[in-house]
Amino acid sequence: MSDWLITGCSELLTLQGPAPRRGRNLKELGIIPDGALLVHKGRITDVGPRRRIERLVQARRAEKLDLGGRVVLPGFVDSHTHLVFPASRAAEYERRNSGATYEEIAREGGGIRSTIARLRQASPKLLKHRALMNLSEFAAHGTTTLEAKSGYGLDWKGELKILRILKDLRRDQPLDIAVTFLGAHIVPPEFRGRSDAYVDLLVRRWIPAVAGAGLAEFCDVFCDRGAFTVAQSRKILSAGRAVGLVPRLHAEQLARTGASRLAIELQAASADHLEKLTRPDIRALALSNVVCTMLPGCCFHLGLRRYAPARQLIDAGAIVALATDFNPGTSPTLSMSMILSLACTQMRMTPAEAITASTLNPAYSLGRHDHLGSLEIGKYADIAAFEVADHREIPYYFGMNLCSLTMKRGDIIHSKKH
Ligand code: NIG
Ligand code: FE
Repeated sequence: MSDWLITGCSELLTLQGPAPRRGRNLKELGIIPDGALLVHKGRITDVGPRRRIERLVQARRAEKLDLGGRVVLPGFVDSHTHLVFPASRAAEYERRNSGATYEEIAREGGGIRSTIARLRQASPKLLKHRALMNLSEFAAHGTTTLEAKSGYGLDWKGELKILRILKDLRRDQPLDIAVTFLGAHIVPPEFRGRSDAYVDLLVRRWIPAVAGAGLAEFCDVFCDRGAFTVAQSRKILSAGRAVGLVPRLHAEQLARTGASRLAIELQAASADHLEKLTRPDIRALALSNVVCTMLPGCCFHLGLRRYAPARQLIDAGAIVALATDFNPGTSPTLSMSMILSLACTQMRMTPAEAITASTLNPAYSLGRHDHLGSLEIGKYADIAAFEVADHREIPYYFGMNLCSLTMKRGDIIHSKKH
């Protein structure tokens, strides 16, 4: 592992200061013009203006990495993905664009159910190979940490297949992966009309088994119309909490069910989606420590107009984050910079707010803000360098990949030659 002196940062976005960020503090990026970083054993040992850092004794011994004038920021933290899935759902995409809705397709047995059927058939080798390819794309787009959910197996064999792949991936490739058990994604076909029996199985058997084997850190429920009720979600997430799995929730995406209130009641790490929040919900979330994770890729891909109320959440003082929700049904993208573009144009966030919402705040929602999410002494040297001169150009240039270098714990894991 090398020691690095990193220079050539036209803007070094440190995001220094306490996490999480709310309200006006969301746009404080702690920018150092012509900044530099010192890295030792994968961690940042100093950060500041180049002229000071270059003179340090450690800087003389370190390997030099001159980025030649780029915007440098903490690696993106993507706190909501469904990383392991067998195939795209391009045929549904075409149908939706001719008028069918996501929920109609789901009711006909397509949607999540079609991915489940294919995942159950897929070999672990193929699934792992696909996930590895996608992880290297995440890295190429500047993401250094992500959360990944199970939820496309929904029988014990299938869920275990996903969780074991995620366990292997944590060991076999450089990105940090926080694993979430989403056994409550939908009611599986075997339990049609018997959802309470499935909830019982989750609560009594699967959740304790997953936690006992150390296969997940978080527990999630799709608490929405056509999936699980608030009462069922409460049972599932409480059972998870009892064995050490921290709750997260898919909330208020298709219908306003009260899932965001449940997130507050259970002190969940995060409530995600939130397109259908009411004004009182926004006020309640603002008074809580639940991270409001918005996934604008879903509205974009589904062609919907009503994005989550990012502006109101921020102005009310809620903790907000942004994530890709990388999945084959509602958001097939792994590009955080594309998500930033959507956050700015469709949800009226500023570029600075969007950057904090995709680094420091999601690190907080994953309980990793002591180690990552900002460029401060003692934290991991997880950085992304973009081929732009001004940080606002990261969302401004949409649908392009301008990330030219990604470093994870001091190792270069992606570099683009120009
Ligand atoms: O976050 N809403 C539930 N889960 C995913 C969609 C999964 C799928 O359609 O395959 C989501 O949007
Ligand atoms: Fe999701």
